[in-house]
Amino acid sequence: MKHILSANQFNKNDLEKILKRASVMEKQCKSDKIKKLLINKIVACIFFEPSTRTRLSFETAALKLGAQVISTENAMENSSVYKGETIEDMTRMLCCYADAIVIRHPKTGITEIASKVSTKPIINAGDGANQHPTQGFLDLYTIKKEHGRLDNLTIAFGGDLLYSRTLRSLLPFLRFYKNNKFYFISPKELELPREFIKELKNDGVFFEELRSLENALPKLDVLYMTRVQKERFANNSDYEKVKNLFILKFKHLKNLKKNAIIMHPLPKINEIEKDVDNDPRAAYFRQAQNGLYVRMALLLYALGL
Ligand code: CP
Repeated sequence: MKHILSANQFNKNDLEKILKRASVMEKQCKSDKIKKLLINKIVACIFFEPSTRTRLSFETAALKLGAQVISTENAMENSSVYKGETIEDMTRMLCCYADAIVIRHPKTGITEIASKVSTKPIINAGDGANQHPTQGFLDLYTIKKEHGRLDNLTIAFGGDLLYSRTLRSLLPFLRFYKNNKFYFISPKELELPREFIKELKNDGVFFEELRSLENALPKLDVLYMTRVQKERFANNSDYEKVKNLFILKFKHLKNLKKNAIIMHPLPKINEIEKDVDNDPRAAYFRQAQNGLYVRMALLLYALGL
């Protein structure tokens, strides 16, 4: 069994194997071949924060592979953690019922704590602003599928880079590949934490920090937009100040390359104008679809299959 806690635990070889498996899952998704791969297994999905894509794609992935699913959404109120049970005790109990445990929680490090007492693989489905490794895998898979390569790409991350766990999960993966250039585009209040900047500088990675989208657009192969996450702000007035500063507008599209792609982990609120959805370069719904195949591959990986 293997826990999936952070993008930083994986090497390039792991990535290549998991992407390859995800591609097989995509091809075989509707075939009988995969229906028994997780027969007699139970996957628990315990979500302390709201989710549409991650929880439901993990559940779909488990069901497609022949597993059964037990699930608690809104676990903050609907599990015994509400009564004061510790994450460690909750995990010990889940190990009695399930073969793999998928957890989302608003606090950084919770899945790591769970993994210390777990006899079953723990999968981090997002821990606060820290990590969302399975999203990192599906993002990488999407870039490979859309562009046919993972190197020699110019990639911009736009929006809330301070709290983005998806950026923290995709960036280490992209750094395994040669000659990628990065633009980090955000208001000052939401810029990438300085420790990441220091590390990129030390490693000689090409990057620039920008305060507006416009200038970078013509250079990009990938524009990865992020949501300003209201739930990460301590007070609402700080959120109100920055929530509308970064919006990708339909008029911006004329400056993007013909084969560039626009990604977003979703949910999106107003950071991408609705009309952009109809442009073929808007890859975010295809990206979410890829989450199913990638999470099928990751369940098999976690269970050592
Ligand atoms: N991208 C993502 O994690 O979406 P959900 O919050 O809907 O799971």
